[in-house]
Amino acid sequence: EDEAFLAAFQARIDAEEKIEPNDPMPEGYRRTLIRQIGQHAHSEIVGMLPEGNWITRAPSLRRKAALLAKVQDEGGHGLYLYSAAETLGVSREQMTEELLAGKAKYSSIFNYPTLTWADIGAIGWLVDGAAIMNQIPLCRCSYGPYARAMIRVCKEESFHQRQGYEIMMTLAQGTPGQKEMAQDALNRWWWPSLMMFGPHDSDSQHGDQSMRWKIKRFTNDELRQKFVDATVPQGEYLGLTFPDPELKWNDERGAYDFGAIDWDEFWRVVKGGGPMNRERLAARRKAWDDGAWVREAALAHAEKRRARREA
Ligand code: ACO
Repeated sequence: EDEAFLAAFQARIDAEEKIEPNDPMPEGYRRTLIRQIGQHAHSEIVGMLPEGNWITRAPSLRRKAALLAKVQDEGGHGLYLYSAAETLGVSREQMTEELLAGKAKYSSIFNYPTLTWADIGAIGWLVDGAAIMNQIPLCRCSYGPYARAMIRVCKEESFHQRQGYEIMMTLAQGTPGQKEMAQDALNRWWWPSLMMFGPHDSDSQHGDQSMRWKIKRFTNDELRQKFVDATVPQGEYLGLTFPDPELKWNDERGAYDFGAIDWDEFWRVVKGGGPMNRERLAARRKAWDDGAWVREAALAHAEKRRARREA
């Protein structure tokens, strides 16, 4: 890749042109997108597990229908994202095998257990709220297929966030026991939600280059701050307390100050040592193995049709 090519590519990015699948692109740009979109797709699919855990125990028909729809949406998001990554020359099989081999990551957040019904509220409110904050700017990502996939994803995430907040509102206004459940869920999900935005900018190895290529439009810390600022008033409205004694409005900055994230916990979970990592991967591996016959049958069928056409 010569300098003239890299400069011409950067000029297209700077002019806000969308890069499309058959356009020439630097190998690093392609690799970064495959990594990020692949991880994003895996997160959507693995993200179905913690909530799927509550579908059979949702407290009413209305709650069950909404949760079922939400978990299905997430399956759909995973499929659009795998398709977007496939436009870069990687197959879904390859991506899945990398996930199962522990080479590709998925979001740290899905390695925490869903212990009570209130966790479904907290996930919708906080986890989907964080996802929206991170994903709205991805609608303006320089890579066309990723940007376009994110538009529908974000609309659906917005419904997910509202269904979660509404669960929290109902619990927070319910019996003392229900309010306690909501508080306990906030206590357990708050810090992991802040970790979703990734390491501090100073430790974000891909951050600067992804910003230059306009894959990312904001840094990890910028998005984390926007999330805190948007979410704290929502928690106060619920009458709940955030598990951070240092959380405080800073008039000078026009933003909330907040306490230090436990980065040891973050890296432990990212590297596979979270409370549910083994279970999540085991569930994905089982689904992949159980589905092998479907993939084989589809291939055999396609092969037969091809042979018949050519005969
Ligand atoms: N969980 C797991 N891994 C993470 C997390 C996290 N919360 N945050 C960062 N990492 C990983 C990165 O993937 C990278 O590892 P890699 O080199 O093996 O890929 C490493 O930590 C260093 O991080 P960064 O250099 O900051 O990585 P990047 O520039 O890709 O930024 C971010 C990370 C913000 C998550 C980005 O990839 C992104 O915006 N992804 C798309 C959104 C997404 O994946 N959301 C999933 C969560 S929610 C949901 O979709 C339902």
